Amino acid sequence: MPATSSTLGERLYTALKPTDSGAGSRRWQSFHLFALGAGLLAVTLSSVDSLPDLANEIASFVIMLVAVVFLVEYALRLWTAPEAPNYAGHSEMGARIRWACSPIGLIGLLAIVPAFAISVHAVGADSDLAALFCILWILKLGVHAPALGTLARVISNERATLASVLIIFIIVLVSAATATYFFERARQPEAFSNLPAALWWAVVTLTTTGYGDIVPLTTGGRIVGSVVMVSGILVLALMTGILATGFAEEERRREYLRVWDQVVKVPMFAELGTVTLSEIVGKLRVRHYPPRFVVVRRDEPGDAMFFISEGEVEVRLPHEPVRLGQGGFFGEMALLDRLPRSATIVTTQPTTLLVLYASDFYEIAAHIPSLVAAVEKEARRRRQENESGKAAVGTQR
Ligand code: CMP
Repeated sequence: MPATSSTLGERLYTALKPTDSGAGSRRWQSFHLFALGAGLLAVTLSSVDSLPDLANEIASFVIMLVAVVFLVEYALRLWTAPEAPNYAGHSEMGARIRWACSPIGLIGLLAIVPAFAISVHAVGADSDLAALFCILWILKLGVHAPALGTLARVISNERATLASVLIIFIIVLVSAATATYFFERARQPEAFSNLPAALWWAVVTLTTTGYGDIVPLTTGGRIVGSVVMVSGILVLALMTGILATGFAEEERRREYLRVWDQVVKVPMFAELGTVTLSEIVGKLRVRHYPPRFVVVRRDEPGDAMFFISEGEVEVRLPHEPVRLGQGGFFGEMALLDRLPRSATIVTTQPTTLLVLYASDFYEIAAHIPSLVAAVEKEARRRRQENESGKAAVGTQR
């Protein structure tokens, strides 16, 4: 009995994990996003006084329904918390308490407050307060934005560079405010009455906001203003550049790990040494496809080949369809022969593919001849199989 419940817990934990790429998790993510959207729409509509009674009732019903979904989700997440690898060293209760106190746990708790408040009749289901409480659901959107975690990591990675730019910002700000205060205070004693007022003008100007509530009128003030405006653009450009580069770097690292996870499932790659493998991993891209998705269409030009790390595809050949499963590959013939695709290929179930674009394929062909030789050998066998298949169809006719 305990073994079964632990398996169930593990499965549920994986399905509820926002970063899992499995079909179950992706389906849950879509449903969660839909429930969140419907709930927020209902909350927003229910605040409109002129809404007809029926629409109001529907909105209240949707709010209740979504609150129940979040209540069930919270209970399941709390129950499966001990399955999380980061709570491995803790007791079941310890893991649950830690999860409940984590940012995701607290957001989950805030999201179910309306459901509790309504169910214990502390607030009427149709009251404005209940609806307004539900706006807290917006916090749950953060769960669907992995970029928030990436942003935190980028800021942490680039903190030294960002701090340098911030220091330049502060130096320009304080010097500009002091200089303008010096130039302007006689001409505009009210606007530039003290240093904090001048600092306000400097912040508005340096950030290129420019409300225009305080404007320098003296020549000296205007010269300082011009320097501050140009410095503002430079500082913002520097900040943008640092964050954009940091984001791209972080995304490249994540993609590398995602590819590495999938590459180990393809036996052809597992035979390669670590150095060779790491070269290929940098060139592969992970793509997830739903069932019945046309990955390759016959007669279209080929720009990539694919390795199957999970799932299955059907090669629709004129004579008879062939199925390729985990570890198989396709799309190589168009790259080797530089001809259009010889068949249409469709997924038969949720499938994860590793994509190798043509330019990278030709580069790898030069560096790792053993891999390309294995691909060529299989392509030759396939060509022969297709030729004899065509001949057999011709004879039957
Ligand atoms: P390409 O021609 O680029 O696109 C269609 C792909 O179907 C082809 O490359 C092969 O990878 C694959 N294919 C063609 N014939 C066979 C076969 N007989 N068995 C398995 N796969 C095949």
